[in-house]
Amino acid sequence: MARRQFPADFLWGVAAASYQVEGAAREDGRGESIWDTFSRKPGAVLHGHTGDVSVDQYHRYEEDAGLMKDLGVGSYRFSLAWPRLQPGGSGSFNSRGFDYYKRLCDSLHQRGISAAATLYHWDLPQPLEDAGGWPHRDTAYRFAEYAEACFTELGNHVDLWITLNEPWCSAVLGYHEGVHAPGRRDLSAAWAASHHLLLGHGLALQAYREQDGRSEQPIGITLNIDTPRPATQDPRDVLAADRAMDLRTRMYFDPLFGRGYPERHFEAYPGETRPEVRAGDLEIIAGKIDFLGLNYYFEPVMAFDPDHPEGFRVAPDYHETTAMGWPVTPRGLYRQLTWVARETRGQCPLYITENGCAMEDSLSDDGLRCRDPKRIQYLRDHFSAALDAIEEGVDLRGYFVWSLIDNFEWALGYTKRFGIIYADYINQRRVPKDSFYYLREVISQSEDF
Ligand code: FCB
Repeated sequence: MARRQFPADFLWGVAAASYQVEGAAREDGRGESIWDTFSRKPGAVLHGHTGDVSVDQYHRYEEDAGLMKDLGVGSYRFSLAWPRLQPGGSGSFNSRGFDYYKRLCDSLHQRGISAAATLYHWDLPQPLEDAGGWPHRDTAYRFAEYAEACFTELGNHVDLWITLNEPWCSAVLGYHEGVHAPGRRDLSAAWAASHHLLLGHGLALQAYREQDGRSEQPIGITLNIDTPRPATQDPRDVLAADRAMDLRTRMYFDPLFGRGYPERHFEAYPGETRPEVRAGDLEIIAGKIDFLGLNYYFEPVMAFDPDHPEGFRVAPDYHETTAMGWPVTPRGLYRQLTWVARETRGQCPLYITENGCAMEDSLSDDGLRCRDPKRIQYLRDHFSAALDAIEEGVDLRGYFVWSLIDNFEWALGYTKRFGIIYADYINQRRVPKDSFYYLREVISQSEDF
């Protein structure tokens, strides 16, 4: 069989996020975020872990950039910690915070690695939560103001901008399910949060387009949409899978692409309050993005369930699972990419901004090696699915593996390891896992698919 290759200009990267890797939670004027508060709530995060220190990238970014250079990636996707840059969430900015990200970008650029910055990866300044958080409309305007300052300060340093990471998680896990910061349990609040996150995205986009001569770098948003598979071909299961898409996919995808909100989703919960959508909001949200980022981990299976308000439930499936208990479903990535390409009529370039897995990793007895064959298999199968989509004409421009290094996995603390570099949290030693060397071969095109 002919050797298959990714396009020569395909962008390979690795990803991480501020609260998960930076540490230095109280240094250089950084303010408190909702994750600082949440991780201190008894029982909120496994073992009471916090991001106070994590892998200390704030001080070790040079070493990490060196590892990325060795890996051969073209880009590093990191996020800007809003509370580091604007500790109060409004009002004055903190130049020491901007200096840190300038140093980080410089050290990447010196090694030929581009900087892909996410403006918001879940660490809302606590004062904004105290004022009502994302369910409060004003937060969208505060976000746009913060974004504008980032464009001004870091416009010459950042090569690709992502406004939000996974607004579904911020809204639903944070305000409805209560398992992420700020830990609230209120569906109407989550809907309002969703709308204000998207509005914040749209306002930031507007601010970006309106600045003089600075907006030439691509800007987009990252979603974790679901494109579930029906458990069987029974029309009720097929409908269940379709309805499940309202919740996690159409609530975000549709307004971003100018189709408004999926009314059916709201109708399923007559007791709840719909988000207040003011005149002009939907136009702002549907501002043109240069690309869509997709975080893909697995494809769920849905079955009809008359007891659920929307008529579906997640069905058990037969796939092997990762250490998160998530099924391993590489073909689902192919299906998702082709679905998005069809829905956007091929008009929107795509990046996979996260894909990877947690496995039960451990170091060899001499501490020098971490064998992770299951992660290699996971990555190989997902890369291959992405390549299938590219060969069918999907405009996929790049692929960021989650994650560069093991880190604080939110409510699960340090118990789940997603890195292609093993982190020894006791002494901050970094040990590239076997998957690191595998990815290096993929990037240098010496691997076959
Ligand atoms: C995604 C998050 C990322 C990481 C991975 C495993 O939902 O964006 O920060 O936690 O899951």
